[in-house]
Amino acid sequence: MTKKLDILLLGAGGREHALLKKLAESPQAGRLYVTPGNGGMLQLAQRAPISQDSPSEVATWAAENNIDMVVVGPEAPLVEGVADAVRARGIACFGPNARAAQMEGSKEFAKQVMARAGVPTASYRSFKDRAAAEEYVRAIAGPCVVKADGLAAGKGVIVAGSTEEALDGVAQCFDGAFGEAGKTIVVEEMLVGPECSLLALTDGTTVVPLATSQDHKRAYDGDEGPNTGGMGVYSPVPEHLVSREDLVTMVDVMERVVAQLKSEGITYSGCLYGGFMLTEQGPKVLEFNARFGDPETQVVLPRMHADLVEVFLACDKGTLDAASIAWDDDWAVSVVLASAGYPGAYESGKVIQGIDEASAQPGVTVYHAGTSIADDGSLRTAGGRVLDVTAVAPTFVEARERAYAACELIDFEGKQFRTDIGARAL
Ligand code: AMP
Ligand code: GLY
Repeated sequence: MTKKLDILLLGAGGREHALLKKLAESPQAGRLYVTPGNGGMLQLAQRAPISQDSPSEVATWAAENNIDMVVVGPEAPLVEGVADAVRARGIACFGPNARAAQMEGSKEFAKQVMARAGVPTASYRSFKDRAAAEEYVRAIAGPCVVKADGLAAGKGVIVAGSTEEALDGVAQCFDGAFGEAGKTIVVEEMLVGPECSLLALTDGTTVVPLATSQDHKRAYDGDEGPNTGGMGVYSPVPEHLVSREDLVTMVDVMERVVAQLKSEGITYSGCLYGGFMLTEQGPKVLEFNARFGDPETQVVLPRMHADLVEVFLACDKGTLDAASIAWDDDWAVSVVLASAGYPGAYESGKVIQGIDEASAQPGVTVYHAGTSIADDGSLRTAGGRVLDVTAVAPTFVEARERAYAACELIDFEGKQFRTDIGARAL
């Protein structure tokens, strides 16, 4: 029998709950720890009493507790250098080192790598000087996109329909709305088309594309309202939206970027997330993330047949070429149940009911995002995005019906969700 591996997973969202469930299914999974975790994750794993964003705390705790592999869910610990610190202790880590994580940590860095790799993306200029940026958006005299260079928890992007909005975006960045992240800004050409995400696993040499998926970033039906972390997602994206040719281009982009980084002495190992706009000229990159997508992971992993512990270790060890990953023909749809008010201010601590009934429906899995277990043992809301109700089925229509039927079985005060997830796929 192979030795079981003790694993520490960092993160607290629906993405991490999905990763944890899949890791727990592996015959190689030993003791499982999480930090900070959520109400669902803490039913499968123990909480490690450390901060996920501190490289030294994570690496020291992992070493002292004989952890065999650390899996990093969100971007912030990667950019802080958690993977470097963990590997320096001789412990396997799933997730890129700090230099490679600059693909998400700095939009300017990512743009430069894309240019050197010859990857299609929006044309852009970067600025450290406010007056120069203002002059540039005035010269564009129309729609453009203003982005804070650094990590801004998904908020540092202003899609500006007019010069006025663009100037306002520039002002927000330089006035400190995104802190240090906005000290350098990127102004890009506005791209038009449907969006498509492609996640890929890589060990720095081999690139294994996972299934395509489509997120829904706006808060309300019909893509109205403010941007959110994502209100729902489905996978795969059908051929009438992403042609075979588009997919070939997207996979080529992922391979080129990993190869370009390698040629510059940067080994990217972990998950590389490509966010694409399907324009009339073909797919163009909107952004890269240095981690799995949330909620994309919640529809990609349920369709994947693989031993995730083995696959993650192979990414770390540089042996991904030998890994075996297969896919279900099923479709997956996930609907986010959010707290009233999200993405603005919302209340927490509401009692959640009906998860067991929902989970008992065929093909349904409920991933926890913002939940916690109260002192009285009840499950409570503890975040903006509360649950990801995911269903798989042989057809897209059935998967969608199952997900929405399950959403009706779950109840908490202020429950809010989009009713049109996947409408484009129909
Ligand atoms: P990002 O965090 O860079 O993915 O940006 C968040 C969202 O802003 C994307 O999912 C797009 O909807 C939008 N966006 C980003 N860049 C552009 C662009 N160049 N043109 C149009 N929309 C964009
Ligand atoms: N779903 C968007 C993201 O993970 O960044």
